[in-house]
Amino acid sequence: MRVLITGGCGFIGSHIARYHLGKGDKVHVVDDLSTGTLENITAFRSNPLFHFDKADIIIWPGLVKSVALADRIYHMAAVMGVHHLSRASIKVISTNIAGTERLLRAVKATGAGQRVIIASSSEVYGLTDKPQLNEEDSLVFESAAQMTWSFAISKLADEALGMVYNHVVNTPITVVRIFNAIGPGQTSSHSIVVPRFVKQACRGQPITVFGDGKQSRCFCDVRDLAASLDVLAAASNSVGEIVNVGNDREIQMNDLAMLVRERANSKSEIIYVPFEEAYMERSVSAMRRKPDLKKFYNLTNYKHQWTLEDTIDDIISEYQYFQHV
Ligand SMILES: NC(=O)c1ccc[n+]([C@@H]2O[C@H](COP(=O)([O-])OP(=O)(O)OC[C@H]3O[C@@H](n4cnc5c(N)ncnc54)[C@H](O)[C@@H]3O)[C@@H](O)[C@H]2O)c1
Repeated sequence: MRVLITGGCGFIGSHIARYHLGKGDKVHVVDDLSTGTLENITAFRSNPLFHFDKADIIIWPGLVKSVALADRIYHMAAVMGVHHLSRASIKVISTNIAGTERLLRAVKATGAGQRVIIASSSEVYGLTDKPQLNEEDSLVFESAAQMTWSFAISKLADEALGMVYNHVVNTPITVVRIFNAIGPGQTSSHSIVVPRFVKQACRGQPITVFGDGKQSRCFCDVRDLAASLDVLAAASNSVGEIVNVGNDREIQMNDLAMLVRERANSKSEIIYVPFEEAYMERSVSAMRRKPDLKKFYNLTNYKHQWTLEDTIDDIISEYQYFQHV
């Protein structure tokens, strides 16, 4: 199989690349390296099955040709971040919406029926206190004037684009709402919580929990995520569907801080930082983000391979390894 991954030098995209190369597939990555890095693809860059183009998908002249050569496309390229968006909101909107639209136009132009997986996000669930989030839920946002919602709105637009191309031109698309992926290769920049806690615990620095620590999240190992997306793409009945993908084990940030401290064998104290101080700007953070995975399991029968403890241990080992080389 020939796989095209947009954003394949990013955290998730590079794990998808590694996963498919492991299966003997040909992998073509396009990435503008705006947040992705060459380090993420170093381990397999010389693999003859792997090809990389540094390009911006919004203007890349090679897009149609590369799309035409692919059997499957994972569209991961996006401008990320949820809390620090006011500075980057034009890029968020333009990349996430125009990039997806251009990609889908290219797929339509080739008319070859490539299987397409579009990355959406649990952030599209917006303002909700529901204990578990289902794909059929109505979505509620604040005014678009609150720019912190730009990312979620851009992902929702991607979902609409995906569904329209599926219904109108029969492109076999599945939209995946990804919930908090973690794992090796993720950096602590952008304040992503698990690598940040790991870094603080390993250095013996205070572990900084934002707010009162009662907010909870469900973390999925990125290697499970890569395998989940493959299994989902192979399931023909997932075509034209929007599907939650992740892990439904829920953990409060207080408990996560204690778990990371314990796994790192650290004596770091745990301290609390108000959200406003942490983000220096207005921020909206849902108290819970737990996926209802019934649809995903009905479509795939997938069994997760990594527990949260396994993943944290691997992140700690990686952090310690890089401290000593
Ligand atoms: N990491 C998570 O927990 C999570 C959760 C929900 C959704 N997602 C979605 O999954 C996808 C991958 O996320 P990630 O965590 O790997 O983020 P990431 O920032 O590591 O990867 C995104 C990649 O896209 C590339 N990119 C950005 N704009 C581009 C452009 N115009 N042309 C080419 N490449 C471009 C970046 O350089 C980067 O390598 C994104 O669409 C993201 O919104 C991720």
